[in-house]
Amino acid sequence: MMTLMLKVDSENPNLDKIQTAAAIIQKGGLVAFPTETVYGLGADALNPAAITALYEAKKRPLDNPPIVHVASVKEIDLLVEDAPQKAQLLMKKFWPGPLTLIFKRSNNVPSLTVAGLDTIAIRIPNHKVALALIRQSQRPIAAPSANLAGKPSPTTAQHVYEDLNGRIDAIIDGGATRIGVESTVVDLSVDPPMLLRPGGTPIEELRKCICNLDIHPFVRAEQELPLQQTRSPGMKHRHYAPKAELILVEGAVEAVVGEIKRLSKSYRGKGSKVGILATDQTQANYEADIVQSLGNRFNLASVAQNLFRVMRDVDALGVDVIIAEGVPSEGIGLAVMNRLRKVSAYNIVKAR
Ligand code: TXA
Ligand code: MG
Repeated sequence: MMTLMLKVDSENPNLDKIQTAAAIIQKGGLVAFPTETVYGLGADALNPAAITALYEAKKRPLDNPPIVHVASVKEIDLLVEDAPQKAQLLMKKFWPGPLTLIFKRSNNVPSLTVAGLDTIAIRIPNHKVALALIRQSQRPIAAPSANLAGKPSPTTAQHVYEDLNGRIDAIIDGGATRIGVESTVVDLSVDPPMLLRPGGTPIEELRKCICNLDIHPFVRAEQELPLQQTRSPGMKHRHYAPKAELILVEGAVEAVVGEIKRLSKSYRGKGSKVGILATDQTQANYEADIVQSLGNRFNLASVAQNLFRVMRDVDALGVDVIIAEGVPSEGIGLAVMNRLRKVSAYNIVKAR
């Protein structure tokens, strides 16, 4: 299959390119497109054949359903059985934006789209290209992150190309994504509502709207959870792991710097090549084979923005051990730490 590259201005998407992409969606094809979080791989959510192709292209396990993207709140009526009062509040406050809500689904939704579950994940993305594509397609668009299963989510069209060139119909290139980590997922099909995945919308913001929000243990987990505790298919699937061992060092920043210096020296003394993932403020402290910054520790949004790009690049560093600095689990920092802990396979050192 030839994958068509459609380059657009993200602020003012070129209508004929969006129309070309929308026609592909309407015919049951697959189009990768930018959102404010990461790139998604889109397919007509109401077309079972398109959804089958979607799972195949990503090599995604069939039991892990995608998020369905719509362009306006009224479009959820077709997809959900009912939207609780709390949902109205959240949709009003956070949509369009990086918040995915889980509802009881309606029977209009093909079983394949929700992987046989009786619930459905929905969001309105805050990105002109994504919204234009949904509107032109006149369909709800199912879109998981546009990476091959087991790879980090793509934050540029180039990442999508590396993983999916030749496997999908088109990629809309709208530049690098603004947020860089996936949306926050909140399950509203249970009471009290439960946060299943930390992401672009901070818990602190959600708590102002739903004071009794539960947090699934997976969100802050510092070790692998037993399978019977998982509440979302995404929690039990293999996630990205770099080729090199990755050690995550957590704690107060001075203690972290001291511990990383010690670890680096010890590994290098044994002849290992060491890479360090630092922050702008700390990188000058280290000696290693490669030192790279994840971003500004006083602006955790910058760390989130860079995270998956750096994760894609670490295999090219050619090191034996990667030592990464933890950042505070506040605001979007919680999403960053959740991803870093998984990437480290919970190989966590607490510095004191
Ligand atoms: O920011 C994002 O959310 C991006 C962009 C493209 O919108 N999408 C994304 O999709 O990250 P994906 O498929 O990579 O992650 C969706 C997560 C998975 O962990 C999946 O298991 C979970 O949402 N999910 C989907 N439907 C669900 C449901 N009915 N109940 C519980 N979890 C569900
Ligand atoms: Mg994903």
